Amino acid sequence: MSGSAHATLNLAAVARNLARVRGFAPAAKVMAVIKADAYGHGLVRIARSLPDADAFAVARLDEGLALRQAGIAQRIAVLQGFANARELVAHAQHGLEPIIHAPRQIDLLEQTPLPAPLAVWAKLDSGMHRLGLLPEEFDACMARLHACPAVSKPIPVMTHLANADMLQDPLTERQLAVFGQALDGLRPERGIGNSAGLMAWTGTRVEWVRPGIMLYGVSPFPYRTGPDDGLEPVMTFRTRLIAIKQLRAGDAVGYGGDWICPHPTRLGVAAVGYGDGYPRHAQPGTPVLVRGQRVPLIGRVSMDMITLDLTDCPAAQVEDEVILWGEDLPVEEVARHAATIPYDLLCGITPRVQRIEIGPRSRDPNPTT
Ligand SMILES: Cc1ncc(COP(=O)(O)O)c(C=O)c1O
Repeated sequence: MSGSAHATLNLAAVARNLARVRGFAPAAKVMAVIKADAYGHGLVRIARSLPDADAFAVARLDEGLALRQAGIAQRIAVLQGFANARELVAHAQHGLEPIIHAPRQIDLLEQTPLPAPLAVWAKLDSGMHRLGLLPEEFDACMARLHACPAVSKPIPVMTHLANADMLQDPLTERQLAVFGQALDGLRPERGIGNSAGLMAWTGTRVEWVRPGIMLYGVSPFPYRTGPDDGLEPVMTFRTRLIAIKQLRAGDAVGYGGDWICPHPTRLGVAAVGYGDGYPRHAQPGTPVLVRGQRVPLIGRVSMDMITLDLTDCPAAQVEDEVILWGEDLPVEEVARHAATIPYDLLCGITPRVQRIEIGPRSRDPNPTT
């Protein structure tokens, strides 16, 4: 077991979380979202843990190429698609399915010779106003795609929801209506539900769902946790106590001396900091687990260390394990204390943090970062 900051990954939980997705949307095919290094869990590792996923989604061409290089054979959709002819040809050469979100990409499809028709996904901007064809240009774009010999048919159509985690927000129903109207007359395979969508909005459970965060055992909803929603956290972020000392009331702790001990304090120093991806903005009071007990962060987070108040944990000793999030300490809770979202924390774990696979299946015996 590593002595400094490391993340254990329970890969068996990934497959169980996929089963949970299928429980919500039994008739849908699942496009597992594994962009951004599978939300910090390791792109290829997570792809290999999901042999039953019907397809994968990555953000960028490079991520798709890395999957193909690793021998991943499932369908792979590239959410940002291509921006030039070179990238378009690379999609075609490696069997990657670009998302068509702008008319400019259709120009490139019409102009670029390809060895065989390419499977693509069209994306409608139904109201998020990020990527996607606008409703007013959608019919003309679909007509061009259908007429384009470089594109294989039929063409599935997706959209992305902006506020599905906000259960009272009317935007999701409006987006579903805009999507339905745009598809009037077409009968494509559709893809809608992200994690929050497929869990909370039945109208998003169409032919394809596209979950990300729930596969990693984390809830997409504010003020809920993965286990609340029947999900199992995959990552547990851990380190060790490297020093303990007794301070007096009035002593200042750490950079800036922001934390003044309000009482005699048993101070613990743990080997993790923002250089590992522990959030620098975690506030005093952010919980960590020592010997299974919650103890509070005090003082500022530094690059390689955090400081803890161990006064109420008298048994704690140097070398004791410290859990920063994961098992028994939801990352959702830590994110709230750092004024951010769990996605940000999971993606933010840095390369120096060793990832260690646990659970029954481990294809790569060497832990990798
Ligand atoms: C287009 C698209 N679809 C699906 C997802 C998955 O979302 P979630 O992780 O909330 O399930 C994302 C994530 O950002 C996305 O950008």
